Amino acid sequence: MVLGFSKKIDISDAGIAQIKSALSELQEPNFNRTLGDLGMIGAVEAKDKALHIQLKLPTPALLGLDALKAQIEASVQAVEKDCPVEFTLESHVRSAVGNAFSAQAIPGVKNIILVASGKGGVGKSTVASNLAVGLAEMGAQVGLLDADMYGPSAPTMFGVPPETRPASMPGPNPERPVMVPLSRFGIKLISIGFLVDTATPMIWRGPMLASAAMQLFKEVHWEELDYLVVDLPPGTGDIQLTIAQQVAVAGAVIVSTPQDVALADVVRAKAMFDKVNIPALGVVENMSYFICDSCDKKHEIFTSGGAEKAAGVLNLPYLGHIPIEGEVRAGGDEGAPVVIRNPDQHSSQALRDISRRVATQLAVRAQSLKGDVTIKGPKLKVTGGVDTKDATPKKGLPIIN
Ligand SMILES: Nc1ncnc2c1ncn2[C@@H]1O[C@H](COP(=O)(O)OP(=O)(O)OP(=O)(O)O)[C@@H](O)[C@H]1O
Ligand SMILES: [Mg+2]
Repeated sequence: MVLGFSKKIDISDAGIAQIKSALSELQEPNFNRTLGDLGMIGAVEAKDKALHIQLKLPTPALLGLDALKAQIEASVQAVEKDCPVEFTLESHVRSAVGNAFSAQAIPGVKNIILVASGKGGVGKSTVASNLAVGLAEMGAQVGLLDADMYGPSAPTMFGVPPETRPASMPGPNPERPVMVPLSRFGIKLISIGFLVDTATPMIWRGPMLASAAMQLFKEVHWEELDYLVVDLPPGTGDIQLTIAQQVAVAGAVIVSTPQDVALADVVRAKAMFDKVNIPALGVVENMSYFICDSCDKKHEIFTSGGAEKAAGVLNLPYLGHIPIEGEVRAGGDEGAPVVIRNPDQHSSQALRDISRRVATQLAVRAQSLKGDVTIKGPKLKVTGGVDTKDATPKKGLPIIN
């Protein structure tokens, strides 16, 4: 925006038409197509002291949005010198899964994103929770499903008191009640940890675990979601495979640490997703380095670049790296993901960038589809129990015993 331009602007219809045509020809770099082709330019109107441009985005988390706005501004000002520009943003997220997978669609959910790793403790739950909250902050409708049956993290990472239970309500099938997800930091949240005490899944056999995991997808009133982020257990076992085969997944994010040995874990995770035809959206390198408070120097404790190398070898996008920061750990332990707790941390910025890369990649994939799996969520009246708008959930009903 140009400061000091305080007069009412006056642009002729021909001027507006010329601007519109120039904007339609601009290239959107993620899609390699023009804004006109993508239908991204909405109304363009001279109102009061600025030219108001409506931008129709394929995701509110579009990578490079600021640069695109600057390019649009420059393009306007090439026609109308010094003309101030105001943007109105609108977004419509589409599903990135083809309609061949309709039978596995979760009603109301457009894009299911799995967060996985070949081995434990690398930061899946940290990435999943921050990805979910980050996308919601940018304006998307988001849910987080904690499917780590043996070690659910969501209750701690989102500060949900141990006795909290999601409410249940009648579902589309009156015989089967559905759960109402809790609401935290603008996302809808379900975890096996809200339903059973943590020791119970340890004594369940494989099929029971997989069926409980499926209930977390199918017997929940998600309403309408642009993204459902799923925090998977570590490795490539039964639960992961069941989920991958039984729900329509848009893509998987593989989390790894930077050591060279991480390569084998990334290869294993990628092989599992290939087997079930789920696109791997890329690799995140977590705990990449530590910045010392007193010397401001980067220390690459676990060496560096292993995950990036792995992404290169497997021809996968590299989604970015997250430094080791006390705030990330504290956010996880104290119930507020770091992107919320401390938005200016290096890790928060890195996590927001990763969220944009993931969402934009899905938008690009969705663009290339003719039809998708989107099924409208059932219209159900939420009654009693936990108010989904309420940030402090109350005690409700356990569903799984
Ligand atoms: N970048 C980071 N900086 C500091 N601490 C981190 C970072 N990433 C993760 N942690 C911490 O490391 C621990 C393990 O992370 P997390 O629980 O996310 O891993 P995970 O892969 O989900 O583990 P599991 O396989 O057991 O489910 C947590 O205490 C978390 O707060
Ligand atoms: Mg975890």
